[in-house]
Amino acid sequence: MNHLRAVPDPDATGPRAGSATSVRVEAPGKVNLFLSVGAPRPDGYHPLTTVFQAVRLIETVTARRQALDARGRITLTLADPDDAVPTDERNLVVRAARLLAEATGVTEGVDLLLRKRVPVAGGMAGGSADAAAALLACNHLWGTGLGLGDLLDLAARLGADVPFPLMGATALGHGVGDRLTPLMGRGTYQWVFALAREGLSTPAVFARFDELSAASAGGAGAPAAPAEVPEALTAALRAGDAAALGDCLANDLQEAALDLRPELAEVIETAERAGALRAIVSGSGPTIAALAPDSATAQRVARALCASGACADVVRADAPVAGARVVG
Ligand code: C5P
Repeated sequence: MNHLRAVPDPDATGPRAGSATSVRVEAPGKVNLFLSVGAPRPDGYHPLTTVFQAVRLIETVTARRQALDARGRITLTLADPDDAVPTDERNLVVRAARLLAEATGVTEGVDLLLRKRVPVAGGMAGGSADAAAALLACNHLWGTGLGLGDLLDLAARLGADVPFPLMGATALGHGVGDRLTPLMGRGTYQWVFALAREGLSTPAVFARFDELSAASAGGAGAPAAPAEVPEALTAALRAGDAAALGDCLANDLQEAALDLRPELAEVIETAERAGALRAIVSGSGPTIAALAPDSATAQRVARALCASGACADVVRADAPVAGARVVG
């Protein structure tokens, strides 16, 4: 493999790059404000047009320098052990650290600690945020000094949703969701997330999307190219107009997620009846994202969702927030 050139990062913040014994990074989960999906490519991935917004559900990865005799091992510990989150090579955090080490020629290992706040397999890119945080944390710990451009390239190799949490705020995504352009916006949005008892597999939701598209288009499937983002959505973001944004929320994967989990329709109805401007499936689901016009209404929506018993848990978060950053 060609090694990326490791240069000191003049923008490095927090602990002095390469000299700290421990680096802590926070990275946000996301909601898709708009998600249009085209027909699958030969490699099975679907072309997307999407608008990501980073929400204040924050994953934390701490990278610790190892004793010299640790022989370059990459280890992962969960702050709150969870059977649904592996700590071996299946975890994107471990794969992110290994990819950065291989790409830069680093041979030292790292001990990684992960604290999760984004629902697991919930359609909010929690695992992708973890990978983004691990890339940034190891880049600082090892002093590899890659800039944002190189980190975004490595992130895209780990998964379609991994680049966005490095960038944060609100961004347009093309390609498979990995080619990003920041979007201008103002204001803060109040979100309420209804979490399901059990996650949904992203590939399973895309597969159901393909089946439903084939059935509804008389076998033709989804259009080859995804739709473009409506001008009304970018205008709503520029104006910071939550009501107008609510009118533009759209998710092509919603029908597939509802087909796999029909009970989610009731969660959407409950949120909208309690005052949400709109409630939609977040990404590939099963989390339902409800946009509220203000904080008091968000509180009311959260209470109604809790009382309905239709979801496992309810969390509130404002958005947009910054991308992955070194803290402490
Ligand atoms: O890239 P990532 O590993 O996050 O994607 C998980 C799965 O979701 C892929 O294996 C693929 O089945 C599906 N996917 C897709 N089209 C995309 C993104 C993801 O079909 N644009």
